[in-house]
Amino acid sequence: MTHSQQPVLTVLREKIAADPDGFAVSLFNRLFGTTPALRDLFPVEMRGLRHTFVQVLDHVLEGIGAEDGHEELIEFLAQLGRDHRKYGVQSDHYWLMYDALMTEFARMLGERWTVQSHETVSHAMMLMTGVMRGAADSADGPAVWHARVVQKFTINRERAVVRVVADGTAARFTAGQYLEVQIPQWPQHWRNLSPATPPNAQGEIEFHVHALPGGQISGSIVRETQPGDVWTFGQQHGLMQVVPGKPVLMVAGGSGLSPLRAILLDMAQRTDCPPTHLFYGTRHPGELYELGVLQQLARTNPWLRVTGVAETTEDPWWIQGSADPHQWGLEIRHGRVGDVAAAYQDWSDRQVLLSGPPSMVFHTQWELRKAGVDAENISHDPLN
Ligand SMILES: Cc1cc2nc3c(=O)[nH]c(=O)nc-3n(C[C@H](O)[C@H](O)[C@H](O)COP(=O)(O)OP(=O)(O)OC[C@H]3O[C@@H](n4cnc5c(N)ncnc54)[C@H](O)[C@@H]3O)c2cc1C
Ligand code: HEM
Repeated sequence: MTHSQQPVLTVLREKIAADPDGFAVSLFNRLFGTTPALRDLFPVEMRGLRHTFVQVLDHVLEGIGAEDGHEELIEFLAQLGRDHRKYGVQSDHYWLMYDALMTEFARMLGERWTVQSHETVSHAMMLMTGVMRGAADSADGPAVWHARVVQKFTINRERAVVRVVADGTAARFTAGQYLEVQIPQWPQHWRNLSPATPPNAQGEIEFHVHALPGGQISGSIVRETQPGDVWTFGQQHGLMQVVPGKPVLMVAGGSGLSPLRAILLDMAQRTDCPPTHLFYGTRHPGELYELGVLQQLARTNPWLRVTGVAETTEDPWWIQGSADPHQWGLEIRHGRVGDVAAAYQDWSDRQVLLSGPPSMVFHTQWELRKAGVDAENISHDPLN
């Protein structure tokens, strides 16, 4: 794209930025006006989606006009297209979106909608919709797969373990990845959950869920999910893995243990695992309920060392009665898991995997960087 073509995309970005939600409302009204059936694909409340949609569109308009970075933009759009399959978006819907966008842009540009600007904008929108459509059309496997809840037990009022069974060939993920999940209590709402077990031929998957205060889906899983519920899964994501040959540091906060637990269980089936130290942190000692499983794993796998970390020394009343974490004979320390891990020893030769709530990941990363660990040695999933 030449420099002379850039200004019209810049003008559009400025016009959208002047009233992002107004632009998105008008665009979606136009889309639903031409094809009312498309409204059913979307949830009733669309404010959050409109906000994200405009952010992505701005990113695309900026990226297409830029000198470089086109490869990342194409990969980003391709992933977005693959992710859209779970919403029931079909190939021809992208043409409808293209038409709606072009009509909306023509209205916004008024007299500036010349043959030249039409060509530039059309090229950009063709690229955006075309890459999404192409990636969706060529993606492997069905858009979604299903698994039935076979067991659920609550750990305490905030935490539950849910076991599901998928058709053995349906489940698509590798240990350490996370999945897009929709539960029957909240149709059309998708959240990410990390399997706590590696894939197996029986299609069994275990999830550990923490109900956030006010959390719609996490609260519903902990309180309402029951055996027989059918969960729907979309794409798998995530790049966390252990590279052979280099010692490992893992730091987990609460339910963030899940992807690291799946990786450890997967490693336990292999030979030549590198020395690995896991710090598993929770707020209260009584929430360290996974120490029993980790102790068994460490006992049979000498390359694994586990330290439990609780921020407090006493449990609040609503946890009291849970198992004493000291019974497993593993080392227990107190403090923030990031502080404890970073101060423990020199980790500069380690590959580091972090998993947990955003505040825990930020804090741990910060402490490890201060303690001399290179940023490039640290990996974690996206935080939301
Ligand atoms: C890669 C990845 C993997 C995940 N794996 C798991 C998992 O295995 N188990 C699990 O329980 N959860 C996991 N989550 C979190 C999960 O996807 C949801 O974000 C979380 O359950 C909140 O959804 P909700 O509908 O209950 O809350 P919402 O109703 O969407 O939000 C309720 C409130 O919680 C706040 N909030 C939303 N997300 C977070 C968050 N992550 N931390 C702190 N506050 C937040 C919101 O701002 C809001 O105030 C994972 C998230 C990511 C990004
Ligand atoms: C062509 C450019 C498009 C862009 C840039 C885009 C962008 C987005 C973004 C950023 C989201 C937020 C969630 C996510 O990341 O998956 C989203 C959700 C969604 N999109 Fe698109 N989209 C496009 C086309 C379409 C089309 C053609 C349809 C169908 C008509 C569609 C239907 C949906 C639906 C149903 C959701 C889910 C809404 C929700 O559950 O909140 N999108 N889109």
